Amino acid sequence: MSLTVWQGDITTLAVDAIVNAANPQLLGGGGVDGAIHRAAGPGLLAECRTLGGCPPGEARMTAGHGLPALHVIHTVGPVWKGGQAQEPETLAACYGHALDLAAEAGLRSIAFPAISTGVYGYPARAAAQIAVCACRAWLAEARHEMEITLVAFDARQAEILREAVDG
Ligand code: APR
Repeated sequence: MSLTVWQGDITTLAVDAIVNAANPQLLGGGGVDGAIHRAAGPGLLAECRTLGGCPPGEARMTAGHGLPALHVIHTVGPVWKGGQAQEPETLAACYGHALDLAAEAGLRSIAFPAISTGVYGYPARAAAQIAVCACRAWLAEARHEMEITLVAFDARQAEILREAVDG
């Protein structure tokens, strides 16, 4: 059981699953969603079309297609609206449901981007706290080995995540 921070491009990680910060339509987009679809190739979009979308806070799993990762777990984070519209709860649910899917599939390693902190505008420090708390709560209850990596796309994000992990 581990929770570590890594800085770089999540599409390069050869883990059992990388998590995509998607939108409810699951048909691709910008940010990490765009990067994952570009790296995976058209087969990922074709598979996503069969899923029928995904509500915020929930997660859906596909194959990794052209990615080094075996699977992609697509989750939809909350759009930041000031913090009074269940954003923290929805964001925490993204981590919990993605981890549940990974465990149910027998996966052993998963990497998360900083869900909702880009286009969706979630404040980075608050989101990092939720990510760490949700992952630690899941690991405390889990009866399943899981190596969790929190991926920072730049040095500032890495510092924020490391501060959240170090407490
Ligand atoms: N590897 C790791 N992290 C990345 C990468 C990458 N290749 N590209 C972007 N990120 C980081 C961003 O720096 C940000 O911190 O992912 C985090 C999430 O940002 P977004 O990708 O904008 O996702 P989000 O804020 O959840 O907004 C989702 O944006 O791209 C669209 O289709 C997506 O509509 C959805 C919305």
